[in-house]
Amino acid sequence: MVKIVILSNFVLLSPHIFLTKGNNPVNDKIEHLQTKREEALLGGGDARISSQHQKGKLTARERLHFLLDEGSFEEIGMFVTHRSTDFGMENERYLGDGVVTGYGTINSRLVYVFSQDFTIFGGSLSETHAEKICKIMDLAVKNGAPLIGLNDSGGARIQEGVVSLGGYADIFYRNTMASGVVPQLSAIMGPCAGGAVYSPAITDFVLMVEKTSYMFVTGPNVVKTVTHEEVSSEELGGANTHATKSGVTHFACANELDAINHIKQLLSYMPQNCEETAPAITYKSSNESRPRLNQIIPENSNQPYDIREVIDEIIDTNSFLEVHKGFAENMVVGFAHLAGRSIGIVANQPAFLAGVLDINSSTKGARFVRFCDSFNIPLLVLEDVPGFLPGTDQEWNAIISNGAKLLYAFCEATVPRITVITRKAYGGAYDVMNSKHIGADMNYAWPSAEIAVMGAKGAAEIIFKKELATADDADAKLVEKEKEYAEIFANPYRAAERGFIDEVIEPTETRTKLIRAFKMLENKVVNNPRKKHGNIPL
Ligand code: HXC
Repeated sequence: MVKIVILSNFVLLSPHIFLTKGNNPVNDKIEHLQTKREEALLGGGDARISSQHQKGKLTARERLHFLLDEGSFEEIGMFVTHRSTDFGMENERYLGDGVVTGYGTINSRLVYVFSQDFTIFGGSLSETHAEKICKIMDLAVKNGAPLIGLNDSGGARIQEGVVSLGGYADIFYRNTMASGVVPQLSAIMGPCAGGAVYSPAITDFVLMVEKTSYMFVTGPNVVKTVTHEEVSSEELGGANTHATKSGVTHFACANELDAINHIKQLLSYMPQNCEETAPAITYKSSNESRPRLNQIIPENSNQPYDIREVIDEIIDTNSFLEVHKGFAENMVVGFAHLAGRSIGIVANQPAFLAGVLDINSSTKGARFVRFCDSFNIPLLVLEDVPGFLPGTDQEWNAIISNGAKLLYAFCEATVPRITVITRKAYGGAYDVMNSKHIGADMNYAWPSAEIAVMGAKGAAEIIFKKELATADDADAKLVEKEKEYAEIFANPYRAAERGFIDEVIEPTETRTKLIRAFKMLENKVVNNPRKKHGNIPL
């Protein structure tokens, strides 16, 4: 019987077909699929892959390999090709059309990804390339998981003209619709020029790779023609330029792997979407007192100290991920864990420009506050601010509207919000930096806090102007009046009497107080008035 079955199989499939893999119609089809897959995996071909490597860059697929959990990547649209027929384009088609798209996991959490393939038409964006990106953006929003874009592109596919521009606009629209729904991260790993820069700019975080990436609206040649400035691509729009001068990028990464690691780290502080909270890390409670905090504030209140030392003492060991580190250094922002829970920190930095609020630090802080609020990440504010920076430069460049952004961002934030005033809280900056009046939940002050309209010297000069003008020894009189004002206001107790400060605490107790207060605020619900959307002073 067995023989017959085998025989009948032979009859059905024919011995020749059975033995020769290539001629089996089914196997032929599978082989064809495999060949096509292999072709797609090769992108623009070996020569272009080596050219990519010679530039110190990984390929689109190698980047995904390092980004995603091993074996987790599922590709979508591997066989998509462009539809263009102008300029002989019908004779040059590559599977995938210059972008690898799909989904996978990072630390077991779902993410959607696109990775532009510079080996195919320089990663330029065609109509179909854009459609592939839009497809995974739609999936990311519908399924509530982060979107990560690895950008390496010569911009609009020149041979396609307006359909390529339309493709960009389709992406910008989706970036905007997805904003505040799922986290969006953009890594720039090659050129990114023209209007193409606007997709990353709309996303939540931009990471750039030093020396191999750049972003600009118009490149050095156009700049030279229009403004007669001679500038290199690196100087005009390289990672360090955008990390320090423009603030367009949040991270300047030493190399591509560093950028990929930053993406993974960033995601670890975030929820998957706006309906969820960030994952908590198992944390075992121990002695939370931090005696070193009692020694950080200098005796002389005009002496600087590094707010990062305070942050490090308060949070879980080595959990701080600073964002926008090289930009507007008078403000420090970043993510951390406190008793295993994700928090966002916004802190004045007395070690840089005395921690003053200016245009750049206000916009930096405002954008970070809004990200945290969008994604349910509680906010901790560490305040030591002498006020807003005076001067024509600031006034003429709109410190008023830019400072208002930070004010607005705090006012509308509904996440748990706690402030600790470590030292100065002067003038309008007191109100802006998450004061009780604009909706903070718990406001603590250290005994070193000075909460007043302005510094004692300036105040004495104004209030006692007439007395000082007629005094025999005006200098001595000023010192006396300054002391008087400082005794009354350069402390936290006037504010505590009013309830503007909930508690004056010893620095060493700060960590314990914060852990408890954030726990107490865990189920906070605030519903701001119903509206279409607010009108933040942009
Ligand atoms: C089609 C492109 C391309 C593009 C590059 N290529 N950019 N193909 N459309 N935009 C192709 C090249 O022909 C080449 O093909 C391959 O990609 C690699 O390019 P190279 O020039 O050899 O590489 P490199 O020397 O590294 O220079 C990279 C580059 C340069 C700086 C990006 O290619 C370049 O300047 N490209 C044009 C950039 C540009 O002007 N784009 C339009 C911007 S306006 P082969 O076959 O030789 O491998 C824009 C508007 C968007 O994007 C608006 C949105 C609102």
